[in-house]
Amino acid sequence: MAGHSVIFDTAESPVEVPTGTLLTEAAQLANVALGQPCGGQGRCGRCAIIVRAGSVRRRSTLRLSAEDIAAGYALACQAVVEGDVQISIPPQEKIERRLTTDRIAAEVHVPAGYDPARHQSVARVALTLSPPSMDDQTDDWSRLQTALRQQAGIDNLTASLPALGAISNSLRAGQWQVSAVIDLDPPVPRLIGLFPMHAPSDTPLWGIAIDIGTTTVSLWLANLISGEVRSQVAEYNGQITRGEDVISRIIYASKNQGAAEMQGLILETINSLVEVACQRARITPDMIVKATVVGNSTMIHLLLGLPAESIRLAPFVTTVNQVPHLTASATGIGIHPEATVECLPGVASYVGADITAGVLSSGLDDTEDITLFIDIGTNGEIVLGNREWLLTCACSAGPAFEGAGVRDGMRATQGAIEEIWINGDTWEPTIRVIGGGKPRGLCGSGLIALLAEMFLTGVIDKGGHLNIGLPTPRIRTRDHTLEYVVAWADETANGRDITITSVDIDNLLRAKAAIYAGFGVLAESAGLALDAVARVLVGGAFGKYINVEKAVEIGLLPDMPWECFEFLGNTAIKGAYLALLDRFARDRIRAIANRLTYIELSADNRFYEAFTSALFLPHTDLSRFPTVQAALTP
Ligand code: FES
Repeated sequence: MAGHSVIFDTAESPVEVPTGTLLTEAAQLANVALGQPCGGQGRCGRCAIIVRAGSVRRRSTLRLSAEDIAAGYALACQAVVEGDVQISIPPQEKIERRLTTDRIAAEVHVPAGYDPARHQSVARVALTLSPPSMDDQTDDWSRLQTALRQQAGIDNLTASLPALGAISNSLRAGQWQVSAVIDLDPPVPRLIGLFPMHAPSDTPLWGIAIDIGTTTVSLWLANLISGEVRSQVAEYNGQITRGEDVISRIIYASKNQGAAEMQGLILETINSLVEVACQRARITPDMIVKATVVGNSTMIHLLLGLPAESIRLAPFVTTVNQVPHLTASATGIGIHPEATVECLPGVASYVGADITAGVLSSGLDDTEDITLFIDIGTNGEIVLGNREWLLTCACSAGPAFEGAGVRDGMRATQGAIEEIWINGDTWEPTIRVIGGGKPRGLCGSGLIALLAEMFLTGVIDKGGHLNIGLPTPRIRTRDHTLEYVVAWADETANGRDITITSVDIDNLLRAKAAIYAGFGVLAESAGLALDAVARVLVGGAFGKYINVEKAVEIGLLPDMPWECFEFLGNTAIKGAYLALLDRFARDRIRAIANRLTYIELSADNRFYEAFTSALFLPHTDLSRFPTVQAALTP
């Protein structure tokens, strides 16, 4: 097959590829960083490049305007090489490394009454063994087991082959005085490591709690003896350049070497966080003997290299919801190779361990009040219940509120418009941009605010249709699509108008309707009206920035008094931390996973009815939103 030279302006040297190679593949070969937020499906338009010389065949130009194509733009994931080409890579949306500081968040308190002897499943045991002699030729392993039985009451110890291989040296190096680190929890105790000396009883044992978010990975390093969190770090999930939502990631993972690449990317992120957390605590990663991991079901599958394809295809089944105990060496997490790695249990394809851990840390499973717990991220997961019963569902809201699926959408980083006010007489917007400076796009909170303001000022009607009758140049038609201009080209960082199109509005309405319909179906399944809910707990990063009033105005959140809402931040990592310390908390998460009744919305007619009614602003039944009704009454 003919070879063609592809020159990227940001690459050190050209690459040779055969006819038919996708530009994304050529970019990878040339080591050129190119984000693929939709996983290369041609949906997001954010892998656009400029063809400077030569030609490519564009399989799809959806998401490119006629102007863009005339200017040489092509979607790298949809353009194949047919001859020698020169490609310019426009500045990429920056995925800044955003490791958090070493400041310990004020809300992390060691659970009251934490007692490692009672709660912790990993223990260090000091042992003194009698050395072998010509009169006592007992083998090392039996000698160790006898000492454990006699000195610590621990029977039936097991060990992996590598751990077994290390005991001989440790026993002799310590002159038969050793500390054994043992996981007491599996059906029988398991040796993690044998260290050649006695350690004082308050010497730390280290553990990590990991939350693998689709966007951000968070890691807490904790002293398992005192319970204290010593380091908290977070960074973007390295898979983000291969898809912003779980479906895009699954599709990417199903291609060629995609699964191995995805596993490698998440391990790279986790292991770099481990390194930084350890440097800050002045320890080495091999001193970490336990890890608990939470994340949505797709993230856990991609971490473990398990096939994830069936998660996105009916009947939507995971390979595993309750992962057996693993070791670090089996998972590739760079801590002590024999460390226990516990992936906490999930419930279904779209209700994972992040939600069970969230229910635990929010205390929802132990409350009397009927409580709604929502975690809106790249998907909307909802739990309704109290200590008697728990119902859950996942709404395929898509990542619209994270800025994807919206033409000028972006994550909540520098340059994102996060708040908007529209003047009701002139329809001129006032914006607030993250980091000050010129705007680059709209993030989730900005989109919610924009939708609410457009609705309240009549820029759009309750069906989300733009009002072309308003005397403002901001409402216009471009490329056969109606749009509202939020910022003109000369006000933006990239010299292009920032707009919200009628297609974007439609996507946002569908996302908010799916979430609100999810609330309704859960309440109906419990035989309740939505107003029986006493508290709404909002988890996840989304809840941190959202303007509740505006979220109610568009009908995303139920219309309830402000004091009924509680914003809990990252409930998933808090749950993982509790399970890291306390075997009873871990058992409680298992009980939560077993108690949660999962309602599959895609097979539920009630959902479609509720969804259709919620496609309006704020809802077809305005009496459900009395405060919005009052705001709309002149
Ligand atoms: S359009 Fe190419 S990655 Fe989304």
